[in-house]
Amino acid sequence: MTGAAGWHHLTAGGVSLLVEAVAGASPRVLWWGAELGSTDLAAVALAAGAAGPHGGVVASSAALLFPNYAEGDASRPALAGHRGGVDFSPLPKCVTVDSSESALAITSADESAALSVRTDVEISESGLLRLRHAVTNTGDSDYVLDGVAAALPIPGEAAEVLDFTGRWSRERSPQRRPMTIGAVVRDSRRGRTGHDATTLMCAGEPGFGFRHGQVWAVHVAWSGNHSTYAERTPSGLGRLGGGELLLSGEVILAAGAEYVSPWLFAVYSGAGLDGVSASFHRWLRARTNHPKSPRPIVLNTWEAVYFQHDLEKLCRLADAAAEVGVERFVLDDGWFGSRRDDTSGLGDWYVSAQVWPEGLSPLIDYVRGLGMQFGLWVEPEMINPDSELARAHPDWIMSTGGRLPAEVRHQQVLDIGNPAAYAYIFERLDALLTEYPISFVKWDHNRDLVDAGQSGAEPHNRAGVHRQTLAIYRLLDELRAKHPGVEVESCSSGGARIDLEILQRTDRVWTSDCNDALERQAIQRWTGLLLPPELMGAHVGPTESHTTGRVHSLSFRAVAATFGHSGMEWDIASITAQERARLRTWVSFVKDHRDLLHSGDVVRADYPDPAGWVHGVVATDRSCALFAYVQMASTAFERPLPVQLPGLDPDRCYLVRPVYPAGQPADVNRTGPAWMAAGEIALSGRALATVGLALPILRPEQALLLEVSPR
Ligand code: GLA
Repeated sequence: MTGAAGWHHLTAGGVSLLVEAVAGASPRVLWWGAELGSTDLAAVALAAGAAGPHGGVVASSAALLFPNYAEGDASRPALAGHRGGVDFSPLPKCVTVDSSESALAITSADESAALSVRTDVEISESGLLRLRHAVTNTGDSDYVLDGVAAALPIPGEAAEVLDFTGRWSRERSPQRRPMTIGAVVRDSRRGRTGHDATTLMCAGEPGFGFRHGQVWAVHVAWSGNHSTYAERTPSGLGRLGGGELLLSGEVILAAGAEYVSPWLFAVYSGAGLDGVSASFHRWLRARTNHPKSPRPIVLNTWEAVYFQHDLEKLCRLADAAAEVGVERFVLDDGWFGSRRDDTSGLGDWYVSAQVWPEGLSPLIDYVRGLGMQFGLWVEPEMINPDSELARAHPDWIMSTGGRLPAEVRHQQVLDIGNPAAYAYIFERLDALLTEYPISFVKWDHNRDLVDAGQSGAEPHNRAGVHRQTLAIYRLLDELRAKHPGVEVESCSSGGARIDLEILQRTDRVWTSDCNDALERQAIQRWTGLLLPPELMGAHVGPTESHTTGRVHSLSFRAVAATFGHSGMEWDIASITAQERARLRTWVSFVKDHRDLLHSGDVVRADYPDPAGWVHGVVATDRSCALFAYVQMASTAFERPLPVQLPGLDPDRCYLVRPVYPAGQPADVNRTGPAWMAAGEIALSGRALATVGLALPILRPEQALLLEVSPR
């Protein structure tokens, strides 16, 4: 809705964004938060106009949509750059506004600095906002761009910040702190999204939980260097924002050239983090490119065979996979060039005649003959110095200063921003996808970009991460256009490339290389704030975790792998018949429940004991649900506190029963409460959300699934 005085009210899903865009003035954000309804916009604008501070600049109290120094906003500016040392302080003023119920496009210009800015703002049905700035150099000389960020204001109630860090095999660890005056800035200079990328920056009412407290959250949708921040200035103004982190000299806009910032996704929830994830999940699921078919059960060969590729052994693995109900068999690293271990071969995307003398067809035909899809691992943006490609084209390696970057996992980065390298990689992948009936590509990226100058014979190359990031998007887009039936997984040493821009051209992520089911509870819980279960690869790993050495029961591992795009990563040809039978029962359970798990609302309870985690998926019509109670650690209590099941219809009656698709946790019956002895209980959604259910005594690292169905 647009008001007479240039007020634009975007509202949906319980959220309002009120923007004032008047020709000749800087656009301002008057409100972002709970829905305003049909309030008088003029009165809101008047109410929002703050007093000028003593000795300050009046405009500094207004939340500019394009924060700038020129009007005395002392916080992080939207744009940093210069034209040969001048035009450092642009003041873009509104020229035109195009608006609809769900979108705004504001064009602003600063004639003196010769820059124009188009700001796009959109709201989805769930109230999710996204915004970005496109900056054009309207002058006739180069403009050096140091950064463009998008940001939205947050009120004083947002006084606690939650962000995420991580490392290989432990992605997305939460960290909380008070939001005081100053900035919390999370820079990712990894040349990929990063294991430590914050994914979300949340600010909320102190103590906000999954089901309570107002929360504002942003995500920078970018797969290269980027920055995300929460800031409050002494004026009281707070903001959440972020954008691409440009390396020096990386973007120099020639006359007439345009730079488009990444989308900043922004979500408000009146009731905790479950509202944040619900908004992201609804937006993702509404996309036309969101995977629609039932997510096939995967077997990935990595932890089963590593580099030991042997047709006979892989066929036995495929037999076992088919027996337990796997639908997609994925051949991981080791099938090409000299790649018998991780020291060589990256870049030589030709099937190895040494290990695959008849090509991949014997295995692919065998796998498909068993009724499974075939998937293949690749790592196209990488190159081993020990490879035919590196020997033929050493100048395609990203570098600067006449030196090679430090090696990581014996590899360097191939500059796919270089048209010749791009053409080679496109040809190789296209040829493989044309020759073989490949349904799925596990697309990996196993190192940070360091000293990543654009390639070429010239030793003093310009920074190339921006160009590389655009090139990977183009490569995926062009391959997918040519091979539309092929699904792609975004893997990057596990979960180091998880963001909403890579997800515009991929169908799931490899959430982490850590298949330890205890660690996975945390990794999936926090990755799940952004992504719904169907986009997160979740596999049953070996009994003894290869990354942590922990030993877990199959039942515990299966519970973790249920709440994602399920699969396994284990040499299931060598396990016992009983284990295989349990795996088969679990696979068929997942198949029966994946419609619910991959379309319903993800909920987590604010369980009062930190040793127990409760999460679930509730059907959107609230007719049924599946919950997990997970004993993360030993509890201080003699018996677990009752578990409340959130998100159900208070006025409906449900049947709840414990289910054990991959076997019962030891002793669960001996210590089970009365209702479990009866096998099930009928209760209203209201009673389940308030009184809750007594639980059996579980040992640490045991879990229980509770199936909720209509009475
Ligand atoms: C990365 C991936 C793993 C596996 C290996 C293969 O670490 O995250 O899943 O594919 O590479 O080298």
